[in-house]
Amino acid sequence: MKEATKQPIILDVDTGIDDAMAIAYAVRSPELELLGLTTCFGNVTVEEASRNSLQVLEQLDRDDIPVIPGAAEPLFRPPLKGKTVSVHGHNGLGDAELSEPKGAALDMHAAEFIVEQARKRPHEVTVIAVGTMTNMALAIMKDPEIVHLLKRVVIMGGAVTVPGNVTPHAEANIYADPEAAEFLFRSGVPITLVGLDVTMKTLLPRAELANWREKNTKLSRFMADITDYYMDSYTSFYPGILGCALHDPLAVGVVIDPTFVKTKPIHVQVDTEGIYSIGRTVGDLRARAEQEPNMDVCLEVDADRFLQHFLKRIV
Ligand code: BDR
Ligand code: CA
Repeated sequence: MKEATKQPIILDVDTGIDDAMAIAYAVRSPELELLGLTTCFGNVTVEEASRNSLQVLEQLDRDDIPVIPGAAEPLFRPPLKGKTVSVHGHNGLGDAELSEPKGAALDMHAAEFIVEQARKRPHEVTVIAVGTMTNMALAIMKDPEIVHLLKRVVIMGGAVTVPGNVTPHAEANIYADPEAAEFLFRSGVPITLVGLDVTMKTLLPRAELANWREKNTKLSRFMADITDYYMDSYTSFYPGILGCALHDPLAVGVVIDPTFVKTKPIHVQVDTEGIYSIGRTVGDLRARAEQEPNMDVCLEVDADRFLQHFLKRIV
C-alpha cells in the first residue's frame, strides 16, 4: 500500500496489556501510518506508559516511531483510581521480564504533539484515544481550532448501554478523568465511541495464547507472555467468560475497517458529580432526545470478523 493512501493516526495510550496489543495491531496494519504514541497515566503512571510503549515498539522493531509523554494526573481532581495492577500487573505488561528500552521518549508534551500534527496535516489525522481523555482535552485547551482540523477522535471508553467495569456505571478510561472526557465530548470534534457496549463482545479466546506460542515469532511470543496475566484477570473477574477483552485493539480496528461495527448518533455526557455514578457516560437514548448527537456510539460489532483480522496481523 502506498504511503499516500495510509491513514495518519496518533495512538494515545496508557500502556497496559490491551494497549500493547493495540500498538502491535496498528504498527502491523498497512492501512495506517502511526505518527506517534502519546502517553498518559491510567493503567500505570505516565512514565511507565512511556517506558512500556518504547518496549513494545522495540519488540516490533519500530523504535523509529516517537513516544511523547503527556498527562500525569487528571485535569482538576486528585486521582479517583490508582494503577490497575490486578488487570495489567505491577509493570503494566503482565509482569513480563523486559529489559529497559534503549530509546527514550521525546522531550515534548503529548498535547503539543497532537496540536502540531493536526496543524501539519489538516483534516487528515485521527487520534485513537485508548487511555484517559486528558491529553486530548489539554490539546484542545492549547489550540481550540484543532477540533476542526482533526479528522476524528476514536475513543475506547464509556459504557452507554451496558454496566461499567470500575464501578457499576463507569468505564475505566472515562472514570480516570471524567472532566477531561466531558470537555472532549462537548468540544465539537467528531467522535466515535468504542465503549464496553462492543469491546466486552470482542474476546480473545485463551486457546490463542497457545497458538501464539506455537507460531513462535518474536511478536507472538511477546504477546503470549504479556497476555497470560490479563487472561487470568478476566477469568477471575468475570466467571464463565470465554477470553479477555480486546478493548483497545477494537478502537484501532474501527479505524481500519468501520464495517466491523454499527454505530448510532447519540448525545452523550459524562456524569462528573454523581454519588454513585461519577464517570458514567449518559447517552440520551430517548426517541425524542433533546440535544443534537455529539458522537457516533458503537452498539454492535462483528466480533468474529474483527478477531480474525486482528489475529492475522499479530504474527
Ligand atoms: C480500558 O481501561 C484500560 O484498563 C484498558 O487498557 C482499556 O483502555 C478498558 O476499560
Ligand atoms: Ca488503555
